[in-house]
Amino acid sequence: MKKLLLTTILILILLAGCGAPPDCICQCDCQQVTPEATPATPEAAPGISQPAHSTPEVWTYKHMVVGFLQTGSEGGWRAANSASFRDTAEELGITLKFYDSTGDLSGQERGFRHFIADEEVNVIVLAALEATGWEDALLEAKAAGKIVILEDRRIDASEDLYATFIGADFIEEGRRAGAEMCRLLEGMERKNVWELVGNVGSSAARDRGVGFREKAAECGIEIIRSQTANWSVMEGKQLTQAWLEESRDVQGIFGQNDEMALGAIEALKEAGLNPGVDIKTVSVDATAGAFEAMLAGELNVSVECNPLLAPQVYEAALKALNGEDLPKWIPSMDAVFRSDMPNLQEIAEDRPY
Ligand code: AHR
Repeated sequence: MKKLLLTTILILILLAGCGAPPDCICQCDCQQVTPEATPATPEAAPGISQPAHSTPEVWTYKHMVVGFLQTGSEGGWRAANSASFRDTAEELGITLKFYDSTGDLSGQERGFRHFIADEEVNVIVLAALEATGWEDALLEAKAAGKIVILEDRRIDASEDLYATFIGADFIEEGRRAGAEMCRLLEGMERKNVWELVGNVGSSAARDRGVGFREKAAECGIEIIRSQTANWSVMEGKQLTQAWLEESRDVQGIFGQNDEMALGAIEALKEAGLNPGVDIKTVSVDATAGAFEAMLAGELNVSVECNPLLAPQVYEAALKALNGEDLPKWIPSMDAVFRSDMPNLQEIAEDRPY
């Protein structure tokens, strides 16, 4: 008994000693690396960074060491996006160093600089938490000969600082959502809409709002409430509950992603209202949760934002490593799904996320 107690205490001291930092860089088999322990940068030849081993004549996926900076793990869409990178790397034999920024921008910037200093890494993939403030880090990555690819989220920086952006047109997604809300509220005397916004500063939140307002203005929609619910079901629910306490004069709710809209739907139901009927509901992502709510008639529309971006990203990275020029935007394929689509059940069954 005494021996067991001693061993337990010993293990606890050891664990406390290593002070595992919150931000973890996983190389598929999860190596704990702290950004502080930055290895010295070897003299990189101009152009591509000098990996530990010599530069191949022709790069293949097996030579690729990708440092991927994910935003965090907020909701179904993000989980599908992360899985796309892990699974596709496994399939192609790419070494993936996965950095979970846990929603923390300063941590994401630290992780980015860690990958600049990591001589093994030849490609950095960034899903930026916020659109601004990346110029300096991108200039450093360029100087270190790293290929930088943006996925999912755009940033406000000069295009010559990154190889390409792969993802959706968030403004267009907002327009599609706005056009659907116009269609759903057609002929209604009052068109008051509440907007549940994504994380402040992200291109997704900013641009979906721009696109939605463009269409809303065309059909007389009034956006009378608009606030961030950080992509989350819980915050979407709480915000809707708070607004319902103030007023029930609302005809539509726009959730900038499925999770926030699903939270609003829960709040409406608990308030004795009929989501999708009394109050029209539109979201973005088209994840499994949205299909369930559409099949239940509680969500009217979900505008797809495809999370399975890894194959396009890795293909572009390989081309860039082999010196090929890339278009500055490689769009992802998206669609719009409505609860009144006759074959919705079939579509839902075939969805990979
Ligand atoms: O950037 C895409 C957005 O990020 C998704 O719409 C949302 O679900 C995620 O958090």
